[in-house]
Amino acid sequence: MQLNVNANENINGTLVLPLWQGSETMAEGSEAGVHRNLKNQVDNVLSNGDFKAKTGSSMTLAGLDEGKALLIGLGKPEDATEQSMREAGAKVIAARGKIHGTTLTIRFHGLEDSHMASFVEGMSLRDYSYDRYKSKDEDEEEESELVIHVTCEPDKVSDLAAATRLSSAVATGVHLARDLGNAPPNDLYPQAFAKQAVEFAVNHDNLEVTVISYDQAIDMGMGGLVGVGMGSERKPCMVIFELNGDKPGPSPCIVGKGITFDTGGISIKPSASMDEMKYDMHGSATTFGVIAALAESGWDERVVAVTCMAENMPSANAQRPGDVIKTYSGKTVEVLNTDAEGRLVLSDGLWYAGTHLDPSYIIDLATLTGSIVVALGHEATGLWSNDDELLANIKAAGEHCGEIAWPMPLFKAFEKEITDSKIADTRNLGAGRWGGSNTAAAFLKQFVPERDGEQIPWAHLDIAGTAWGAKTNKLVKHGATGIHVRTLHHLITGQ
Ligand code: BES
Ligand code: MN
Ligand code: ZN
Repeated sequence: MQLNVNANENINGTLVLPLWQGSETMAEGSEAGVHRNLKNQVDNVLSNGDFKAKTGSSMTLAGLDEGKALLIGLGKPEDATEQSMREAGAKVIAARGKIHGTTLTIRFHGLEDSHMASFVEGMSLRDYSYDRYKSKDEDEEEESELVIHVTCEPDKVSDLAAATRLSSAVATGVHLARDLGNAPPNDLYPQAFAKQAVEFAVNHDNLEVTVISYDQAIDMGMGGLVGVGMGSERKPCMVIFELNGDKPGPSPCIVGKGITFDTGGISIKPSASMDEMKYDMHGSATTFGVIAALAESGWDERVVAVTCMAENMPSANAQRPGDVIKTYSGKTVEVLNTDAEGRLVLSDGLWYAGTHLDPSYIIDLATLTGSIVVALGHEATGLWSNDDELLANIKAAGEHCGEIAWPMPLFKAFEKEITDSKIADTRNLGAGRWGGSNTAAAFLKQFVPERDGEQIPWAHLDIAGTAWGAKTNKLVKHGATGIHVRTLHHLITGQ
């Protein structure tokens, strides 16, 4: 999408009018450059109540020689939020259809700066579809890129242009995360992800990407990553990102679960919807997306990240339920269920992050448990932390971005449950299935290193319900959401 912001009166392509509920005519002062017949048509549908401008509504006006219009309902002014404005912007893309072509002019008038910015952000985020595996008919021309002219009052142009540059930069990170999440698991396997990260770094001078290979992981004693990945032909690896490594640490550190496909391993999953387990690497997709968003928005302070990549397959070489593995931390785990694999790869990623990367805090993201989907549905990510301030900051950043992260407890009882193996230091399965996302979080906590006698500030985001499949997420058409790229970009940069 090409976006330019100006105060011109010209209307290129379809005129897009965001309208408050209850508008009886076009806002006074907003009609500059609009042909009288088109204005009459708009005023007619507004005054006779054919278009009420309710939240989520839209109407196409066409048939005149003098141009087309797309009316977008903003709902009542007193109910407007940044999120409702993002969703209204997304509606422009969702409702556009073939009839409006690829050139649009948005006419803002009398809107708050932040509302206009959120509307534009919503357009950018929603302008995404994953069609690289669809064959094009020979006569079907590739649809050209959307060109969107955003017009507003002259004194608001420069602020809106700046906000647009920022949200477009961050949206490239969101879209990269969606691309990775949507990619089919036969093409996106651990080494393929690593290769893409290395190639990305080649094009960004201030980013260094290092890959810990399978053989190195074995030598280093990363029993969690190795145990999960060894059953696959496509061997596991760990990918380390360091942005602006010339700046002194301690710095924010993001850790992502990257199971490129989760069959469950020997504790195999039922086949219904198993295809969705291609999204089980969305933690790593978000991690890469955050790095890309920071690089694109010009962030110049150090940020580090780790993604734990593996394919969880059943095979003659796969780990078994009953195996005891030794993780990178030195702690042993009794593997009672090979489908609880995310926590195993993360145990090594968290320990590596804490001991090698000089983090100020560590935030991990993982499609970790089905039970968080039972608890929160698709509406929120589960959030656990050993640090109240970090938890509050993540929660606030999520709210700011319309990506809700909801606090969950780290009770001692959960830690006890997950550390009372008869034969090892920890077990990868709770005693029963109740509170399964909490015992998973409690397990991860065992692998956050201490510094000066205190555990490094750490938070865990269980994105199993928010990484894909949220029908109520209006900023996504289908598939991977790119969840929390924006939250973390905002948390890290304050922008
Ligand atoms: N990747 C799954 C979690 C998951 C399931 C995410 C469904 C999204 C939708 C994870 O590896 C897993 O299998 N978790 C198990 C843990 C259990 C064996 C303790 C689960 O949630 O059932
Ligand atoms: Mn699993
Ligand atoms: Zn999994």
